[in-house]
Amino acid sequence: MPPPPVPSCGKTKQAIIADVSKVLSRRKNQVVMDLGSGWGTLLLPLARKFPKHHFIGIEYGCIPYFVSKFRARKISNITFLRQNFFNSDVSKADIVLTFLMNSTMAKLTPKLLKEAKCGALVYANRFQMKNVKATRKVFLGSKYDTYYVYKM
Ligand SMILES: C[S@@+](CC[C@H](N)C(=O)[O-])C[C@H]1O[C@@H](n2cnc3c(N)ncnc32)[C@H](O)[C@@H]1O
Repeated sequence: MPPPPVPSCGKTKQAIIADVSKVLSRRKNQVVMDLGSGWGTLLLPLARKFPKHHFIGIEYGCIPYFVSKFRARKISNITFLRQNFFNSDVSKADIVLTFLMNSTMAKLTPKLLKEAKCGALVYANRFQMKNVKATRKVFLGSKYDTYYVYKM
């Protein structure tokens, strides 16, 4: 069963956007990739806020893909690709975002360990990378409002 297109929401969404924004404001020319970008909930506000960084959403669901593409039609620094992210090149990403499921994270972890850029940051909403210790765990009051940050 694939993860449903449930968007990041509430305080976790706001905290991830604020956390990634802090990193982006200190750096230049960053590539941020959302693996399973859904409706573009995280990438669209970030892309509007940081026109000099580049944002890539990978989504295989037809409807969320077309909706996010439509929502991004006037934003030049964002690209949505209709792909299975297991076939995507993640090696250019400086920041990777995920909000998937335990089973998907278990399959994705070896790909990230093998292919992600050294020093890339992975932000995992709720579901952790398998058998990898997070550099930072951000607990916002419940297990549903928790995200993990990994430095690869
Ligand atoms: C829970 S939603 C998260 C959406 C967005 N990242 C957010 O935080 O709001 C997970 C999304 O991942 C997509 N997805 C799951 N497995 C995928 C895969 N292998 N390739 C591309 N998209 C995938 C699903 O279709 C769904 O839209």
